[in-house]
Amino acid sequence: MTLRGYLGKFLTGGKTPSPGPAASDPEPATGPEEPSGPVVHHLGFDIPRRLAWRTGTLPDFTTVSQKHMVTLRRFGALEQARHIVEIGCGVGRDAISLIPLLPPEGSYLGIDIMPDSIAWAQGHITPRDPRFSFVHFDVADKQHNPGGTETMQDHRIPRAPGSTDLVYLFSVFTHMFPADLAQYLRDFARILRPGGHVVATMFVITEGLPAHLLRIGGGGARNLTFRHEIEPGFFHNDPAVVPGATAYALSRLEQEAAAAGLEVTRFALGAWSRSGPPETTGQDVVVFTRP
Ligand SMILES: C[S@@+](CC[C@H](N)C(=O)[O-])C[C@H]1O[C@@H](n2cnc3c(N)ncnc32)[C@H](O)[C@@H]1O
Repeated sequence: MTLRGYLGKFLTGGKTPSPGPAASDPEPATGPEEPSGPVVHHLGFDIPRRLAWRTGTLPDFTTVSQKHMVTLRRFGALEQARHIVEIGCGVGRDAISLIPLLPPEGSYLGIDIMPDSIAWAQGHITPRDPRFSFVHFDVADKQHNPGGTETMQDHRIPRAPGSTDLVYLFSVFTHMFPADLAQYLRDFARILRPGGHVVATMFVITEGLPAHLLRIGGGGARNLTFRHEIEPGFFHNDPAVVPGATAYALSRLEQEAAAAGLEVTRFALGAWSRSGPPETTGQDVVVFTRP
C-alpha cells in the first residue's frame, strides 16, 4: 500500500486508531516531580526517581514503556529485529522492557544527551545484560543537557553501515530542529540494513490541522497549537521556549527522508490533535524505511 493509501485509511471519518500510545508530553522534565519514594520500581530495576522523572510519564512509567513495545511490534517488526538502536533512551526504561524480547544474539544501543541518565543505565543495565549498551552524546540542550559542549554535528551513531534492523525514537523528534533531524535521518540510513525501519513518535502537521488546533484551543496535555511556522513545514509551539515542542508537516518529513535515503512508509495519527479529553494525548507515529 502506498503512503497516501495508508494515510487515506486513517484520515477519513474523523476517527483515528490508537497508534499504540507513546509518551505524549514533549517536556516531561518541566512539571512537578512525583513526591513519593526515592526510587521507581520498573521490571526488577530500582531507578532513582529523579532520573525516571526526567525520562518521563510518571506515575505510568512501566505502563507507557509496555505500550512502547506494542508500538514497536505494530510498526517496527520488533519480532524480527536483532540489532536495535534507540535514540533518546533516557534512563533506559525501554531497554529494560526489551531484555526479555531481544534474541540471545541480539544487541541494543541506547543514546541520550542526559549524562546522569546514561551513566545510570551503563552502571545498572549493561552489567545485568551485556547485550545492552549506552552512549552519551554531549550535545548542548537547555532542557536536557545544559552543560553540554558539543553539537549533533560532532556525533555519529557508533554502529557499522547496514548493521541495524530497527531504530526507534519515542518523543524525541518532538523537540528537534530540522538540521539535527536531518542528520539523524542520514545516520539512520547509513546504519540500517535494507528493509530496516525507523519508528518515531512525534507531532505531524497534516492538511487543515493548524486551523483545527486553533479552533479547539490546542491539542495534547499542553494545548499545543504549533502556530509558528518557522520555515516551510517546520513548526514550533512557542519559539520563546527552546527546544520546547516542535512539529513537522508530513510533506517535509517525506522530503527529509528522501534527502537522507529513506522513505516514509507508514503514518498513523495519534490522539493528541483531536478535541477529545485531555488524557488522549498519544503522539503520531511515522515509520521511515531504508529501501
Ligand atoms: C520526552 S523524553 C523521551 C524519553 C524516552 N524516549 C521515552 O519516551 O520515555 C526526550 C528524550 O530525548 C533526549 N534527547 C533530546 N535530544 C536528543 C538528541 N539530540 N539525541 C539523543 N537524545 C536526545 C532527551 O534527553 C530525553 O531523554
